Amino acid sequence: MRDLTDKVAVITGGGGGIGKAMGHAFAREGMKVVLSDVHQESLDAAVAELRSAGADAVGVLTDVSRLDSVEALRDATLDRFGTVNVVCNNAGVASGAHGQIWEHEVNDWRYAFSVHVYGVINGINAFVPWMLEHGVEGHVVNTSSHNGGFAPVAASATYATCKAAVVTISECLFGQLRAAGADIGVSVLFPTGRTEGILDTGIWTPRERPPGYEAAVPVDTTSKMQMWIDMKEQAGDPVQFTPLSEVADTVVDGLKAGRFWMVEEGRFEDLVRARADVILRRADPEYPIGA
Ligand SMILES: NC(=O)c1ccc[n+]([C@@H]2O[C@H](COP(=O)([O-])OP(=O)(O)OC[C@H]3O[C@@H](n4cnc5c(N)ncnc54)[C@H](O)[C@@H]3O)[C@@H](O)[C@H]2O)c1
Repeated sequence: MRDLTDKVAVITGGGGGIGKAMGHAFAREGMKVVLSDVHQESLDAAVAELRSAGADAVGVLTDVSRLDSVEALRDATLDRFGTVNVVCNNAGVASGAHGQIWEHEVNDWRYAFSVHVYGVINGINAFVPWMLEHGVEGHVVNTSSHNGGFAPVAASATYATCKAAVVTISECLFGQLRAAGADIGVSVLFPTGRTEGILDTGIWTPRERPPGYEAAVPVDTTSKMQMWIDMKEQAGDPVQFTPLSEVADTVVDGLKAGRFWMVEEGRFEDLVRARADVILRRADPEYPIGA
């Protein structure tokens, strides 16, 4: 998609963090932007911010874990802009779990899958058939993570498992759309900072799980991260967060270049090589995965 001007982009999880940054980057390219999020307040604030920067933007309250909600997002997009070109399945949560894998509750897995995996599946099912039927120039961008997307971190197994699934879904979608001769590209995004792997977004803010996904044993998904940030600060080596606009620029560049793997050079190669090497040697996993 060489020319993004006047194209219509939908971004899930657009109420903050990487999704909102994508909204700003898309608007700077002259795109029309639909932000969607499950949190009305942050969604309203993000849309107001975009509009005050001159963007043609709307917000649609959406729960990506429900197909009917994502279909309503598609319909609202079509009502407002008449078409849709770019769909960013980006909504995510810090989907932690209590204890070791064998102690995780089924709801820990269900919650992680509901947002990270079904969010992407619902985005594909709601938008791709419409795009195919109407022959639009389209692109689907699914947000994965280094954690799981390239190699897993054992301490966040539910998250990593979902992000691995996002890569596989994206690869399969790419293959099938290409085989069908469709004018719809696919990308998978691995948001990463320059010096630190993680980015400073709302994902580290403690949030309650929605009804139906509660854990019997309370799950603390965020304090370990905050402890690490505080520890580095106190040691006089504060965490160097990369601006989210850099991730958004990676998406814009990737869209223009039609790049499947949306990740900056120098931020993933060692991990991918280490894992591939272990597989090729039939050796024990040691990328490192951690405990
Ligand atoms: N922050 C990082 O370091 C990092 C690294 C790699 C990948 N990611 C991924 O990037 C994506 C964006 O996360 P972020 O870091 O910007 O976090 P964020 O919390 O700032 O943004 C995620 C947004 O998703 C929304 N959301 C959560 N559940 C939803 C649902 N069911 N339906 C609709 N919206 C929902 C949240 O309200 C939030 O606004 C996620 O998929 C995340 O896993 C983040």
